[in-house]
Amino acid sequence: GHGVVVAIDGPSGSGKSSTSRGVAADLGLRYLDTGAQYRALTWWMIEHGVDVDDAAAIASASLWPRLESGTDPEAPTITVDGRRVDAEIRGQAVTDAVSRVAGVQTVRNRLIELQREYIRAALAEGPGVVAEGRDIAAVVWPVADTKIYLTADQAVRAARRGAENGGADLIKTQADLARRDAEDALTTRPLDAAPGAVVVDGTHLSLADVIARIVEIATEAV
Ligand code: C5P
Repeated sequence: GHGVVVAIDGPSGSGKSSTSRGVAADLGLRYLDTGAQYRALTWWMIEHGVDVDDAAAIASASLWPRLESGTDPEAPTITVDGRRVDAEIRGQAVTDAVSRVAGVQTVRNRLIELQREYIRAALAEGPGVVAEGRDIAAVVWPVADTKIYLTADQAVRAARRGAENGGADLIKTQADLARRDAEDALTTRPLDAAPGAVVVDGTHLSLADVIARIVEIATEAV
């Protein structure tokens, strides 16, 4: 039969990555982490001394590095110019700058086209893909078979993100999240569900329950 695309969008700290990987593993789909691509490009800019406050510099530099995503949900990878940067892209410098890089339209055009190539390849090869990000349902793949908007209260998102970061300061983590939500809101709509998206609020649900709920929604859709 034909492959499926499950779009999972939502703000930072909503549990999108763990959830998307779990859904992909349960359904036997590939997993595409679009945030990792924005982060990898940002890492490359910082590494090459590109001024991340200079939109024109970002736009021209964004055309050079070659990005590759490994789409196994059990072990996703991100490679830039042949170098694996899975750990580097989670650092504070990248997290602080990524919204500004992602706000440059040339960057978005390039990455959206790359993301569509990955989705087409996953559909051509087999059962399909879970694509995770901010604008998958709204922009990248509006004809996704299942569209999920995953969210949680900001305090819960900050607590989870802080725990992931080895118990980082909660006030600072919450301030970071609020800043990134606000910066991201200038380009994508991280705090709004796309038309036709099912809202899943994970505030009071375990990871396993959120995965089960989305698997159920995706299964009903096909
Ligand atoms: O999901 P994650 O926190 O890794 O995303 C990092 C950043 O990449 C977001 O804060 C946002 O600025 C950008 N992003 C985006 N569009 C996407 C995915 C991520 O603008 N589809």
